[in-house]
Amino acid sequence: MQTVHTVAELRTALTTARNAGKSVGLVPTMGFLHEGHASLIAQAVADNDVVVVSVFVNPTQFGPNEDLASYPRDPERDTELCRRLGADLVFMPAPAEMYRDPKAFVDIAGLSDGLCGRSRPTHFRGVCTVVTKLFQLAQPTRAYFGEKDAQQLAIIRKLVADLFIPVEIVGCPIVREADGLAKSSRNSYLNPAERNAAPVLSHALRAAREILRPGLATSVVRENIAAVLAAEPLARTDYIEIVQADTLEPLERCEGKMLVAIAVYIGTTRLIDNFTAEVSR
Ligand code: PAJ
Repeated sequence: MQTVHTVAELRTALTTARNAGKSVGLVPTMGFLHEGHASLIAQAVADNDVVVVSVFVNPTQFGPNEDLASYPRDPERDTELCRRLGADLVFMPAPAEMYRDPKAFVDIAGLSDGLCGRSRPTHFRGVCTVVTKLFQLAQPTRAYFGEKDAQQLAIIRKLVADLFIPVEIVGCPIVREADGLAKSSRNSYLNPAERNAAPVLSHALRAAREILRPGLATSVVRENIAAVLAAEPLARTDYIEIVQADTLEPLERCEGKMLVAIAVYIGTTRLIDNFTAEVSR
């Protein structure tokens, strides 16, 4: 396995692979890798001849008061995990390598307004910009994203469709801790009491899944989730949204392919979780 830090090195390494007719799998990450990331990398290794993992804490997707400076990093451990999982290349660029006096950004209308976009108004512009750059650089056959970030996944699917980017987007299921908490690099911010409280997100979603039925008002489902969250003193709800899973448009009633997504502060740490369900009469 090779670790590269520059755009030029990445291009050279992947041009050789592509000229040899090899399929390329790309797994974009911000590092501090856990089993959620590992599941994406393992799937990419299973599907492709060559796998590149990018590890880049992307500054443009952090708001001014967010955790860019404190975001957890461990490049040595990340590199070792990628090697163990059978990746071929790790791309770890410096911020100046990805952004040299940037003037071009990629934005997506509508899909980035609700859910996480409401409290993070510039977040998905940063995500779309860096992911487009990575697609341009790696020109992957397939790229892997987790369903944990369901809005991000829906946005990336729309991005590649609208911009005719020739890559297959592969969505991978949410990997959880034994108690249901979705794995996340940000779980490392939780103190022991907060860590004990954090599974309330998955508990609230599990309760909601049980009451879904065609035609039920989504306000009832939202209230059900809110009640479970309210019983946890360390939890403060950011949003509870129920939307059509592909367009992210709000749903009044349960029907079709639904995304039920929540964001909750546990102490000062903002966690997200979701599930999708097909509800038909
Ligand atoms: P990051 O949060 O590091 O996540 C990288 C990828 O791992 C994303 O596709 C995310 O959905 C997936 N992932 C994280 N936790 C997961 C879990 N518990 N189960 C399954 N998949 C999980 O998402 C980003 O980075 C960035 O926005 C990025 C796409 C790299 C652009 O900068």
